[in-house]
Amino acid sequence: MSSADVIITGGRVVSTSGATAADVIIEGERIAAVVAPGSAAATAAESGGARIVDATGCYVVPGGVDVHTHLQLPMSPDATSSDTFATGTAAAAWGGTTTIIDFAGQMKGMHVRDAVEERLAEADGQCTIDYGFHLSMGDIDEIALKEMGTLADEGLTSFKFFMAYPGVYYSDDGRLLQAMQRTAELGALAMMHAENGIAIDVLRDQAAARGDTGSIWHGRTRPSRLEGEAVHRAAALAEVAGAPLYIVHLSSSDALEQVSWARQRGLNVFAETCPQYLYLSIDEHLDQPGIDGLRHICSPPLRERDTHDTLWQGLRRDELAVVSTDHCPFCDNEKLLGTDDFRVTPNGLGSIEHRMDLIHAGVIAGEISLARWVETCSTTPARLFGMYPQKGVIAPGSDADVVVYDPNVTQTLGADTHHMNLDHSVWEGIEMPGQVRTVLSRGSFVIDNRSYVGRAGHGRYLRRDLSDLLV
Ligand code: URP
Ligand code: ZN
Ligand code: ZN
Repeated sequence: MSSADVIITGGRVVSTSGATAADVIIEGERIAAVVAPGSAAATAAESGGARIVDATGCYVVPGGVDVHTHLQLPMSPDATSSDTFATGTAAAAWGGTTTIIDFAGQMKGMHVRDAVEERLAEADGQCTIDYGFHLSMGDIDEIALKEMGTLADEGLTSFKFFMAYPGVYYSDDGRLLQAMQRTAELGALAMMHAENGIAIDVLRDQAAARGDTGSIWHGRTRPSRLEGEAVHRAAALAEVAGAPLYIVHLSSSDALEQVSWARQRGLNVFAETCPQYLYLSIDEHLDQPGIDGLRHICSPPLRERDTHDTLWQGLRRDELAVVSTDHCPFCDNEKLLGTDDFRVTPNGLGSIEHRMDLIHAGVIAGEISLARWVETCSTTPARLFGMYPQKGVIAPGSDADVVVYDPNVTQTLGADTHHMNLDHSVWEGIEMPGQVRTVLSRGSFVIDNRSYVGRAGHGRYLRRDLSDLLV
């Protein structure tokens, strides 16, 4: 038997079934054992030269898995999301996330293979933590449908389709049906941006023609009813295609109602929400003049405050299976492009660093359990996207992606202290009850007692299996 390299002692190991006092023994890149404190194996590891990480008073949790990020994404000729693969993955690690799945984007007229190769080249050697890609499909034609099979064989097993963004990524219902028939055939996962983009574009143009060009109109022209309608239609198309479906960045009660309806009908429909939809609101955040409003433009938009309770309830009931970030940050100079017209503002917010903290705060607030924190932020995303049990669990044989989380510290979020490449924070001044202390990625320290010791290039591209949660 090889000797232990690291032992994490004195903490409570959190899994989907709760928290237990246990020590975690790491050999090389993998977890070797999870043992009772004081057991012979723990004593042997400690006396055998393993580095001892004292986690007394802390939770020991599987590294976070954020399955929806947009690093260095060109949104328009003048706006590219500000976190690079290097800065974004380092910031993720600071916040306890050890795996991300970003997107390769197929634009009109582009071969999906080229889209993926381009993105692989951009990320190569840059990432601090492990990463994968979904494919965003903006041109579903016969060639693309065929190439999806090769990509799935190579470990890219999830595909995002769009009911929004006409002229860019939008596909009509016929194309969506064909694409979902294909994911069903491949056993892959269809992801949907569910907003009725055709109707939304009419509302946007009408607002602009009236001179209603401020940030608030971004929200008012994307009503939640048009998100709910799109979720319903996506679920119906998925049912007809026999395809499992994953709704991304779900923001509204209308949309959640449709997910519940689909699940009660027995459909294989899953959904994620994001921290911004659990904490921020249209009235308090989007409806502000100037840069303050523009910073809060994302799609779907922020909703009314009372939606927060509904979405937390959705997380408790497993109608919402995952919390991801949809991290897509833009610095103020790019957000300001929309000063005279909300339609020009690059869409997206930055939160890759704060997801684990913000959802842990929900545990402290009594919204969800500790087990559910780990399940929604780590285990279920790993399972849904074909990475389990390599990721998402602390168990023998799994990658040693481990976070020591201190629930006794209070931190204040903000641009001065965060590590995202972003000159402001939509989380400015918010107090968090808890903080990441130490992070390991495949057995290597990335954050060591609040110091960054990671390395760009340590992160490996993940060839993923098919999901183990789909039937
Ligand atoms: O505003 C957002 N969500 N920007 C990223 C693009 C998307 O649709 O996920
Ligand atoms: Zn989207
Ligand atoms: Zn997104």
